[in-house]
Amino acid sequence: MCGIIGYIGSGASLNVLVDGLKRLEYRGYDSAGVAFLNGNGMDLYKAKGRLQDLRKILPEPLPRIRAGLGHTRWATHGAPSSENAHPHATAGIAVVHNGIIENYRDLKKELQAEGNVFLSQTDTEVVPHLIARFLGRGCSFREALESAVALLRGSFALGVLCETCPDTLFAVRKGSPLVLGIGRGEFYFASDIPALLPFTREMVFLSDGQICALTAEGVEILDQVSNMVIPVAERTVTIDWTQAMAEKDGHAHFMHKEIHEQPRAITDTIADWTGDPVRRLVQLGIASGPDPAPRRLQIAACGTSYHAGLVGKYLIELLARIPVEVDIASEYRYRMPVVEPGAGFISITQSGETADTLAAQREAQKQGLRALTICNVVGSTAAREADAVLQTRSGPEIGVASTKAFTAQIAAFAVLAVGLGLSKGTLSEDTASRLLVRLQQLPGLMKEIFAGEEAINALAASLVNAKGFLFLGRGVHYPIALEGALKLKEISYLHAEGYAAGEMKHGPIALIEENLPVVVVAPRNSLFEKTLSNIEEVRARGGRVIAVTDDPDALRDKVHEVLPVSQTDPLLAPLLTVVPLQLLAYQVGVLRGCDVDQPRNLAKSVTVE
Ligand code: AGP
Repeated sequence: MCGIIGYIGSGASLNVLVDGLKRLEYRGYDSAGVAFLNGNGMDLYKAKGRLQDLRKILPEPLPRIRAGLGHTRWATHGAPSSENAHPHATAGIAVVHNGIIENYRDLKKELQAEGNVFLSQTDTEVVPHLIARFLGRGCSFREALESAVALLRGSFALGVLCETCPDTLFAVRKGSPLVLGIGRGEFYFASDIPALLPFTREMVFLSDGQICALTAEGVEILDQVSNMVIPVAERTVTIDWTQAMAEKDGHAHFMHKEIHEQPRAITDTIADWTGDPVRRLVQLGIASGPDPAPRRLQIAACGTSYHAGLVGKYLIELLARIPVEVDIASEYRYRMPVVEPGAGFISITQSGETADTLAAQREAQKQGLRALTICNVVGSTAAREADAVLQTRSGPEIGVASTKAFTAQIAAFAVLAVGLGLSKGTLSEDTASRLLVRLQQLPGLMKEIFAGEEAINALAASLVNAKGFLFLGRGVHYPIALEGALKLKEISYLHAEGYAAGEMKHGPIALIEENLPVVVVAPRNSLFEKTLSNIEEVRARGGRVIAVTDDPDALRDKVHEVLPVSQTDPLLAPLLTVVPLQLLAYQVGVLRGCDVDQPRNLAKSVTVE
């Protein structure tokens, strides 16, 4: 929910923190701050608002620093304000934090009773005071930090800087993501990869319970669980994301860039599956052992990833005849799911850090289920805790509204379903290879949709003052209707609802009126005639219908607007029908002047429940 960054080295401009925070702003952007050592003590600057507001109060020119911390915030405790902005400091100790300290109220009461004065309403502010308490009892700084951390309950990634030990920066991870950047004589920590790409591509992903000491000479990682020092070289991975991948490449917004990156994301995601899907299943440990495949699957995810899971259900049940239940992760984690022997669990998460999805995955594992995660971030918590990872290869998804991760997740389900079908014998080799060929052709068909972007933009212009939207779809396109509605509402702030088209007469039809456009996903498949009836019911009540279809001629005189997509296998069509909905939502958001990359109230990764 927040972005933290730290630097220590022989000396660099303060811009190393400011530039890094710019790449973390998508994680939270309601206030920001930096603390740094400048040779004669610690300087601290904090501002409400965006990073640009912090930049205005920083010294000009930016000073050189030897060590420093930075933070960009998504408020969890205490409204956005400069007082509540991080870093929080006392007695020459500064702390930045991503996560939630659940027992901060009791700790704060204790500390206030000891005479500590608090300046903010945040949970984080207890940390520097706790460290100061233990320092005052004669602990070394590291002992004081470890004692303070031992008292914290909740999830946190912390960065700690201290005036009295200027040669060391500390980073602590428990429940919130933290990655180290390994430079030459310069070392970093950050909440996410893009912040560090301009400086290094050699990174180490910290695990929960690890405390890291960074100096200009190197980093030492102590794993408090095993009480072992972690060999840094062995844990260092080279990130093959270029800085450009994490930037906009000339697009107006990350979201637009990422919509256009979907063909590549699909190609990269399926690359190591199309040769021999069953081999991949065996490598993932899914098709090894007595059963050729799990007897039942439980899927849990949030938001857009949940919608991908709903598509996955259709694909797996149709191709592999394995019963699949799909849950919203925040429901799964508390509903005491019934677990049968031989069942499997799949979590779906772009960030790999969504609190509810992690909790659902842990619950499934606690119940004895083997957990596969379909995840986009290497080294993320979900990826490291799962029993197997089906890596989507979308590259960094910066826009808060998930697009390329979504279609990559569906592509992952397509190859997984084909592999499961082959492994179980419910899918012939011919059908499987035909599907895989069609899947490999799909990115080219997706690019054709971009050729029609101007028409979509023109349509969007006529929708910016709509009262709301209804999105309808059937079968494997019902989740696409849900996703189209989510995209539109989360970036344009217009109300939108997704519904199974067959449900329309059970309530939503009461909403139909001229200024409530109905977007219908209507590809030519076995449900086309049924969906056409729904379109006619809407038109008969004066509703305006926008149809996404691969048979435009069949609908052109029956609806107000047609958004055409190419024909493909009916089971793969969701990968195409979602794209016009993404572009439509994006353009409506832009025309309404919304910040489509950082919509209000939202964060890219919901790392708290
Ligand atoms: C999607 O556009 C939203 N930003 C949100 O629903 C997101 O899909 C959800 O928070 C899940 O995130 P994850 O895939 O990183 O777990």
